[in-house]
Amino acid sequence: MKLKINATSLNGELKVPGDKSISHRSIMFGSLAEGETVITDFLRADDCLDTLKIFRQLGVPIHDDGHKITIEGQGMKGLKKPKEVLDVGNSGTTIRLLMGILAGQGFDVTLTGDSSIQKRPMNRVMLPLREMGVSVMGYESTEFPPIKLNENSDLKAIKYQLPVASAQVKSALLFAALQAEGETELIEKEKTRDHTEVMIKQFGGQIKVEGKKITLSGDQRFTGQKVNVPGDISSAAFFIVAGLIVPNSHIVLKNVGLSETRTGIIDVVKAMDGNISLTDVDELNDSGTITVTSSTLIGTEISGDIIPRLIDELPIIALLATQATGETIIKDAEELRVKETDRIQAVSDELTKMGANIVPTIDGMIIQGNTTLSGSRVTSYGDHRIGMMLQIAALLVKKDEVILDKSDAVSVSYPHFFDDLESLMK
Ligand code: S3P
Repeated sequence: MKLKINATSLNGELKVPGDKSISHRSIMFGSLAEGETVITDFLRADDCLDTLKIFRQLGVPIHDDGHKITIEGQGMKGLKKPKEVLDVGNSGTTIRLLMGILAGQGFDVTLTGDSSIQKRPMNRVMLPLREMGVSVMGYESTEFPPIKLNENSDLKAIKYQLPVASAQVKSALLFAALQAEGETELIEKEKTRDHTEVMIKQFGGQIKVEGKKITLSGDQRFTGQKVNVPGDISSAAFFIVAGLIVPNSHIVLKNVGLSETRTGIIDVVKAMDGNISLTDVDELNDSGTITVTSSTLIGTEISGDIIPRLIDELPIIALLATQATGETIIKDAEELRVKETDRIQAVSDELTKMGANIVPTIDGMIIQGNTTLSGSRVTSYGDHRIGMMLQIAALLVKKDEVILDKSDAVSVSYPHFFDDLESLMK
């Protein structure tokens, strides 16, 4: 696909699509609850639609009238054995959280996904699940999908210290703990997004969170709820950065989710001297309006406990750093290497093709600022966030073409991304 180039300004207002993490979980919680759950502003993108399809295959009646989604909850252990292998497509959140949810349902099931999913590490979920008494295996005794869960039922509570900072692993174990006997205690490596903990409470469950320690008892029941999904800050991030680096720009992003566990990008933009402000903050819904204007930026260091708070935004933050004065160093982000693609390598390789100066390191990148970007043929590697980042980069290219291979990956999280961008270029 030929990308849009040479943006002279970006102006206007957008309502970014629903949060991906919350959309997945709203289907999962609604299915495990008793009674009806109604979801509005659900993210209708490939990843979340795959979750929806799978819960239907698990026997949950889910109605989508194009506006709201209504789920007839089946209760904590009410899922039915599916007739077929469950295919999560590209979605790591779906496969990992499902492993925890299906661990104690009392039937055997196989989970698979696309070629990217088949390369993603699953021992991080399988090893603690085995400690809970779950029989689970990867393809030909590896840790990779297809994953086969045997007919398990009696799960034991565990005390477990997570070796990686991962909300997907934490959430999988919380779902398994809900079906186990006794009290499970998890200690996080770093605090990660807490949507699962928040939704356990929202659906009427009990959970105790003290810093990085989480305690949860099994044998709980959930009640169906109304869920309004806020906009995804990870999708807003592309327009936050676009508004900062394209000259003469002013972009207003409405109804963006502002969970403290997700707002690392706002802290980084402030540290880089970017013009960013928050208004209309709705404390109850944890959402608000983000406004950005074109800025003169300075390089910074991004490392330590902020990393999980912006892990999905690092590709677009790397682009931001190419336009700042001085050097930006990203460290402690080795998890980027096991996302939809190796994002350290993908960002470095593709932006370097366009003229950036980025050195990949084991756990991050060293990025030189004030670089001029030029036309090239680039690829998303089938990774939605790499594809969108490259389109924002192309806006700075004055002439020459930028051709993006595998541009359709964008539909994994943001199907209307190119239309939304176009609306700001008028
Ligand atoms: C997610 C957790 C993160 C994030 C992913 C969504 C979630 O993954 O990168 O896009 O919804 O729990 P990890 O748990 O692998 O860090």
